[in-house]
Amino acid sequence: MLGAQLIDGKAIAADIRRELKEEINQLRKKNVNPGLTVVLVGDDPASQTYVRSKQRACAEVGIRSEVKMLAKDTPQAELIALIGELNRDPQVHGILVQLPLPEHINSDTVLRVIDPLKDVDGFHPVNVGSLWTGLSEQGFVPCTPAGIIELLHRTGIEPTGLNAVVIGRSNIVGKPMAALLLQSNATVTICHSRTRGLREYCRDADILVVAIGRARFVKGDWIKPGAVVIDVGMNRVDGVLCGDVDESAREVAGHITPVPGGVGPMTIAQLLRNTVIAARRTL
Ligand code: GUN
Repeated sequence: MLGAQLIDGKAIAADIRRELKEEINQLRKKNVNPGLTVVLVGDDPASQTYVRSKQRACAEVGIRSEVKMLAKDTPQAELIALIGELNRDPQVHGILVQLPLPEHINSDTVLRVIDPLKDVDGFHPVNVGSLWTGLSEQGFVPCTPAGIIELLHRTGIEPTGLNAVVIGRSNIVGKPMAALLLQSNATVTICHSRTRGLREYCRDADILVVAIGRARFVKGDWIKPGAVVIDVGMNRVDGVLCGDVDESAREVAGHITPVPGGVGPMTIAQLLRNTVIAARRTL
């Protein structure tokens, strides 16, 4: 059997960054200089790595970026006060509070304080509401699912009428992914760690998005021949980065995203895009 076509997220993200660079140049001519501020609380090494790659990507396309680093034991009130300052700063178009936050801080409370017009993560309830009412054009869509829709679009995959199965129900990926696939006219099922008969749901999926956070969890024989498989996993096993989907899926799927080089670069490209959208809206 022929192997799946690999969806090259790295190349598609590079195309998007080129397009954004052009748009940023246009905004500059109108005296709008897009700026993103990332807030990092604590010293989680994975978060530090993510934040560094966000900064690098901003620099490459010409977005000003600043990282506010706060100590692990920063009181919640202090974090909220900082967000208030950023909300009021006209130079700051996008605000991103890196998750997870330390345990003494309530993420839901903090995310609600971010001005929805600067919420480039799309986590504020106002933006979540816009997404589920089909008004996402007016708000911000979380970066990973938005990046996945863009991958499908640029690969020529049209979700209308297809069975889409999302494994994972997080606010960051699973739930917004389901909303976007629904908006793209797919028939959507959300599965999770408590789902009974998970394999049977997978076998019925024309589009399978896996965001469960378990290395090589989904096997080749769970997959419908010719399906589109999107692997959101980022797991480290014996020092090797691998996804939530086993390599055996490549023998069965029609299209599949590699890890690394699939969804990851698209998440960052979408963050840049959301920041540019936030800046453009100030005009
Ligand atoms: N931690 C892991 N993914 C994300 C993300 O998309 N946004 C934020 N803010 N934190 C994260």
